[in-house]
Amino acid sequence: MTTFDIKQLQAELSHKNPRVILKKALELFDNIAISFSGAEDVVVIDLATKIRKDIQVFCLDTGRLHPETYRFIEKVRKHYQLDIEVLTPDRLRLDEFVKAKGLFSFYEDGHHECCGIRKVEPLRRKLAHVDAWITGQRKDQSLDTRQDIPEVQLDSVFSTDDHPLIKFNPLLNWSSAQVWDYIEAYQVPYNELHEKGYISIGCEPCTRPVLPNQHERAGRWWWEEATKKECGLHAGNLPGHSSDGE
Ligand code: ADX
Ligand code: SF4
Repeated sequence: MTTFDIKQLQAELSHKNPRVILKKALELFDNIAISFSGAEDVVVIDLATKIRKDIQVFCLDTGRLHPETYRFIEKVRKHYQLDIEVLTPDRLRLDEFVKAKGLFSFYEDGHHECCGIRKVEPLRRKLAHVDAWITGQRKDQSLDTRQDIPEVQLDSVFSTDDHPLIKFNPLLNWSSAQVWDYIEAYQVPYNELHEKGYISIGCEPCTRPVLPNQHERAGRWWWEEATKKECGLHAGNLPGHSSDGE
């Protein structure tokens, strides 16, 4: 797909609702996968399975998720009868990293190295075998890093010269309240951590519940600056990266 086509598609999907974006994504691509974090992005799965029953779904199992999240992934697998792919980090790289730096180095020198090994490398491996992927990113998740992302983009991080990769963000224009209205209205299963004060959910050592009126991503990597809170999955959201494929 050319950059020109992407621009047309961006114009067509601009400000559209999740169902319209997902329908288009699934019409255009057979080999497309949903990247499911084990949080409220389950709504993407619910919407997508109403369009295509056998949609590919994968989770990045960092080895550091909460027990509640593992239970939830299993619940989603059974509820939607999906063969969810649970991807693990490269064993040798992980062993070497933990041996050299221990299990909590991210509190001292930042989360990028650990996220790089536990999330980004397995994601890169998976994305090399699909033509497009679908995320649950929303604008309202971050005033610092998610305001300028489009509904569809040429993935500036994981595309290669001979393998252009398209990324769809169908929930982009929904607020957290809309997501939760949907979960309630359609009886969608959700992660039990949401009942314990967690809003945004990542790995256990790097996620904590937020206080009333705190922004949801305040509970993620709370010891770091808000403008750096992207772990590499969506590094294209950070300044200096082009998100429109040019
Ligand atoms: S993160 O980059 O800060 O960790 P966030 O938790 O906001 O991401 O989730 C945004 C989207 O990234 C999710 O809806 C999902 O598509 C993808 N994602 C995040 N974490 C994972 C994961 N562990 N496995 C699969 N996809 C993930
Ligand atoms: Fe490692 Fe924390 Fe990143 Fe999980 S979120 S991969 S534990 S740094």
